[in-house]
Amino acid sequence: MKKMDWIAKSKLVVFPACLIPLGLLVQAVLTNNLGPDPANALTRELGEWALIFLCSGLAISPLRKLTGVNKLIRFRRMVGLFTLFYALLHITSYLAFMLAWDWGTLAEDLYKRPYIIVGALAVLILIALGVTSTKKMMRRLGKNWVKLHKLVYVVAGLAVLHFLWLVKSDYSEPFMYGSIITILLLARIKR
Ligand code: HEM
Repeated sequence: MKKMDWIAKSKLVVFPACLIPLGLLVQAVLTNNLGPDPANALTRELGEWALIFLCSGLAISPLRKLTGVNKLIRFRRMVGLFTLFYALLHITSYLAFMLAWDWGTLAEDLYKRPYIIVGALAVLILIALGVTSTKKMMRRLGKNWVKLHKLVYVVAGLAVLHFLWLVKSDYSEPFMYGSIITILLLARIKR
């Protein structure tokens, strides 16, 4: 049997740990602990978790450089796929609980709340990155794979714009995420 290295072993812990936010949210739903507007709170929480996973994925390369532990890169795909997972749950929560699958309201919302179009663009790119994240696709796309996956920074920009656009008064959170992403991008460029 193939021996597992420490990264493979850590993945066995990190994978279930990435599901903890979802577990806590399910518990909050079941115990009716999401406040006066649970549909909105759930959608917002899932959106924020998608952004947290996105930032964590972007932090892996700089962390690898900082520590010299090259193997850390092997966490990148898993964290990236969790970003997509939480983003898809975020959309599902919006469509199911905020819109009750009413496509007429969706059309109205797209017109009234353009930040939804920005979010949708980010999700489309995330799907393209997820689909091409396998080793087989990496080999098939060659140099273009690296170019394509740099789009993760476009996703980050769109996600922050989405957040900035939807808040009405307190801009501190989107600014915080925007700053984190800018620092991570600069750390990459300075390499
Ligand atoms: C089709 C795609 C998307 C749709 C329809 C969508 C929809 C929404 C909606 C309806 C809200 C709540 C707005 C409100 O309370 O008025 C929201 C909030 C949010 N979304 Fe999205 N979103 C999408 C994509 C994304 C993506 C890709 C990300 C991040 C990777 C994201 C991150 C967030 C964040 C961080 C919030 C605010 C959370 C908070 O207030 O704490 N969204 N989104």
